[in-house]
Parts: sequence; structure tokens; C-alpha cells
Amino acid sequence: MASRPLVASPPDAFGAAVLAGLAQTPKVVPARYFYDNAGSELFEQITELPEYYPTRTEIGLLGVHAGEIATRVGAGRIVVEFGSGSSVKTPLLLRAVAPAAYVPIDISADFLTESAGTLAADFPGLSVLPLAGDFTRPLRLPAQVAGQPMLGFFPGSTLGNAAPASAVDLLRAFAATLGDDTWLVIGLDLRKDRHVLEAAYDDKAGVTAAFNMNLLARINRELGGTVDASAFRHRARWNGDAGRVEMHLEAQRDLAFEVLGQRFTMTQGETIHTENSYKWTFDEARLLARAGGWTPIAGWIDPAGLFGLHLWRVAPAAGEP
Ligand code: AVJ
Repeated sequence: MASRPLVASPPDAFGAAVLAGLAQTPKVVPARYFYDNAGSELFEQITELPEYYPTRTEIGLLGVHAGEIATRVGAGRIVVEFGSGSSVKTPLLLRAVAPAAYVPIDISADFLTESAGTLAADFPGLSVLPLAGDFTRPLRLPAQVAGQPMLGFFPGSTLGNAAPASAVDLLRAFAATLGDDTWLVIGLDLRKDRHVLEAAYDDKAGVTAAFNMNLLARINRELGGTVDASAFRHRARWNGDAGRVEMHLEAQRDLAFEVLGQRFTMTQGETIHTENSYKWTFDEARLLARAGGWTPIAGWIDPAGLFGLHLWRVAPAAGEP
């Protein structure tokens, strides 16, 4: 089945993460590995599903409130986006705030080159300075913009993939990267009725199921896996105690498989936990801001109460009474 030579030592980060995660109880694979080419394409389809409200709701909020954001932060900041940018959301912000430069940061140099190229074509005269790197750690910004006033942008409720302690660490890394004259525009999905949440992660058309199952295809293709994907089903469920939607791949029967030459077994009903999507109330989000080194300044919720868009300012490093 495996067409590539199997190596005893993990060949890359994906292999190492899968071997470590499958050896754990319960089994896990980090959600960031959903996004190979097929997974990124499926995620794009998810954003257009009737059940998946976050993307269109956040776009609506940006359309209505970008002007007020611009008034509050002032013109001429450097916009730094964590992630390679959305073709719809990024232009809405850039058009309003008239930045001096735009710095998209992403781990994937390929996604960066592609989206930075498209954006530069739509904004002639804007200096676009893509930065390939891991934004979960403090990064050195390009020399052309270092030390200038910044506006961070982190849409899509991407912070929701992080457990609370990791979310705080990530927000602190953003503050360290952006410096002491900095604002942040961040979108965070709100806690709501479990049926609305579960439908958003288990759509009728089965696109989210395909997105989740694609991880097994990726393991088989890239890691010499022998996983029988037909033995698994997609599961999405609200965990109210933890405040998150969980996605799992659930074994429908006892099975065994190999990944990178290592054998794993699962029993019927056992799952591989593939994603957490934390949902924060508006007030919880403000507390999260403060824990992560930011001061909430303004925020907006759409009329249906689905999604929160927040404007935070970095908290000065000052002594406390
Ligand atoms: C891109 C992390 C915001 O959690 O809603 C969508 C990913 N997973 N459907 C989310 C996702 C399943 C999405 N984020």
C-alpha cells in the first residue's frame, strides 16, 4: 500500500505529531494538519455552507465597523495579519485603515506568496511584506517596518482552536511581536445554542465530514499509513464544560493500522480527537484579552448574536499597585 519508503525516525513535523498523538490516550492529531491542499480547498467550501455562519457574519461585521476601527486607531499604521490573509476580509480592513504597509505572517511560504501576490495586485502602491514564520512565538518584523505603530489582525476565530492557556500565550506572543504602540482586531465566535454549533460543524452536505476525514487520507498518503478510512465516521459535539465544539474521527469497529511503520489499534467507538473550537462569550473574550496582555477598547456583535469582533490595545508594561 505505501509507495514511499518507510523510515524509522519521524521525517517531519507532521509525522512526529501523528506518531505522538496516536500513542496518547485518548488519541489526538493537532488541527493545524487539516490544511494540506485538499483540506484548504474543503475549508473554503465550509465557509460557504448555510450552517457555517462565522465567515459571512464576520465579513458583515467588518463591512459595518471597519470605518469606526479606522477612526479609533488612526491612519498610517502597519497592518500585521496572523495567517496568510482572506481575500474578502483583508481588503475590507486595508481599505478602511489605509496602512503604511501590510505584513502577512504564515508558516506556509506557498500560501503567503500566492495570497500576497493577489493582494498586491488589488492595492497598487501598498507595500506588502510577507513574512514566513511561526506566529505562535515572538517574531522579528521586517526591518522596513520595525518600531512603527502597528495594527494586528487575527480574524476567523482562529484563536478558538487554542485551549485557554495556549490562547493567552498566543496573545502574549502577538504583543511581543507587535511592540508597544499596537492595536489588535480579532474575531471570536460566540457561545450559543448547542444545536446551532453542532450543525455548523456537521453540515447536511457532509463537507465538514470530508474535511475531517481528509486527515486520514493525508496520513495514508504522506506517512505510509494503512488506515481504512471507511471504518471511521465524523463526529462533532458541543462540550459545554470545556466550552468548545470538538471534532473526532470515531472508529466504527475494532481495527489496526500502521503509520510510518508503527502499529496502532483502536476499539469500536474509540476516537481520534482532531479539533477543538472554543466559543467565548463577549465578556469572556474581554477577560481573555486582559490575561493575554491587551486592553479591550471596543467590540461589536452582529444583530443575530452569533459572532464577536473586538478591538484591543496593547496593555502598557507598567507596575501594578
Ligand atoms: C478556522 C479554526 C476557525 O474552528 O470554526 C471549520 C475550522 N473546523 N469547521 C473553526 C473549522 C471545522 C474553523 N477555524
